[in-house]
Amino acid sequence: MAWNGSIDSAARSGGRLLEPVELGRYTLPNRMMMSAMTRNRAGAGDVPTASVVRYYEQRSGAGLIITEGSPISPQGIGYPSTPGVHSDDQVDGWRRVTEAVHGAGGSGRGAHRRGSRCLTLSARRTAPGPGRNRAGGWLAG
Ligand SMILES: Cc1cc2nc3c(=O)[nH]c(=O)nc-3n(C[C@H](O)[C@H](O)[C@H](O)COP(=O)(O)O)c2cc1C
Repeated sequence: MAWNGSIDSAARSGGRLLEPVELGRYTLPNRMMMSAMTRNRAGAGDVPTASVVRYYEQRSGAGLIITEGSPISPQGIGYPSTPGVHSDDQVDGWRRVTEAVHGAGGSGRGAHRRGSRCLTLSARRTAPGPGRNRAGGWLAG
């Protein structure tokens, strides 16, 4: 993907933004890393939609993409329409995302979430009990 003028300016100024960097066992093609951002684009069953696929594919020029926090269980839903990773359909949807990003030369990592104090009403109804959600939060990995 083509980056905008501000990135070009950074490169022209002699910065190292566009140089590769080692990050653990990964060699990233550049130093632009996209942080996790909830986009609320999931469809029925909190499955990643074509819009989610397109969103990440469009950003595949980043050295590393951290996905939006994706609930690991129905109890972990923190916001509506967030694409989860706890059903086969959701995993298939994320597979389409990673195939699109990798097909475009990008690199992505998932961020998994168990919602903390901000739960949807349906998640509240299905949560196992009071206190179980206090230790939640965003776990990137
Ligand atoms: C709209 C929006 C959605 C976000 N969603 C997530 C998320 O799903 N998971 C997460 O770990 N952080 C999320 N964040 C936090 C960002 O990844 C980032 O850490 C935060 O904006 C602070 O970045 P900064 O220090 O560069 O401002 C979100 C931030 C914004 C603005």
